[in-house]
Amino acid sequence: TQYRIALIVGSLRRESFNKKLAEGLIRLAPKDFSFHHCEIGDLPLYNQDDDSHQAAPVKRLKQEITESQGVLFVTPEYNRSVPGVLKNAIDHASRPYGHSAFAGKPAGVIGISVGAIGTAIAQQHLRNTLAYLDMPTLGQPEAFLQAKDDLFDADGNIGEGSRKFLQGWMDRYVQWIQKHAG
Ligand code: FNR
Repeated sequence: TQYRIALIVGSLRRESFNKKLAEGLIRLAPKDFSFHHCEIGDLPLYNQDDDSHQAAPVKRLKQEITESQGVLFVTPEYNRSVPGVLKNAIDHASRPYGHSAFAGKPAGVIGISVGAIGTAIAQQHLRNTLAYLDMPTLGQPEAFLQAKDDLFDADGNIGEGSRKFLQGWMDRYVQWIQKHAG
């Protein structure tokens, strides 16, 4: 079986640590897993008036999620929650009512920040939302990463110090998707 994963990164920043984390992480996945980076930077601000005529980028995002067997959220923490751009994307793809692209899709949550508690609170907020969206979400292992110089090597791979831990995380994520993919 081939597994296709919708990868949603909660930062639009060019040099985003979370983007780099996502790129390093997906290299740890087995060959039958492919990851599709979902663009969320071109979505309009969510407005319920538009539910009956969703904009093209919204339809594209929903399609990408629908075609996937699972979702991977890699997000920073902004003001002790998820960034607005990520929440905006989630709100879009969850609507209109009864037509959420997320329902039943297994998910994983991970993130990196410069702060010492490494996106812990953002991840808990996100888990709340994903529970409401009926997404079975990997509970363990949790991964709260703090950006350090040696987290990535010169080629963008996960550095020595965190490789084993994050390989373990990816292995569990892969098992979770295989177990819950429809
Ligand atoms: C932050 N940052 C931050 N870090 C953290 O650990 N907890 C927080 O609540 C916040 N809050 C916050 C708010 C806003 C508006 C910004 C711009 C930043 C710092 C954050 O970890 C840092 O900017 C990361 O580099 C963001 O991730 P990316 O963009 O590198 O992926």
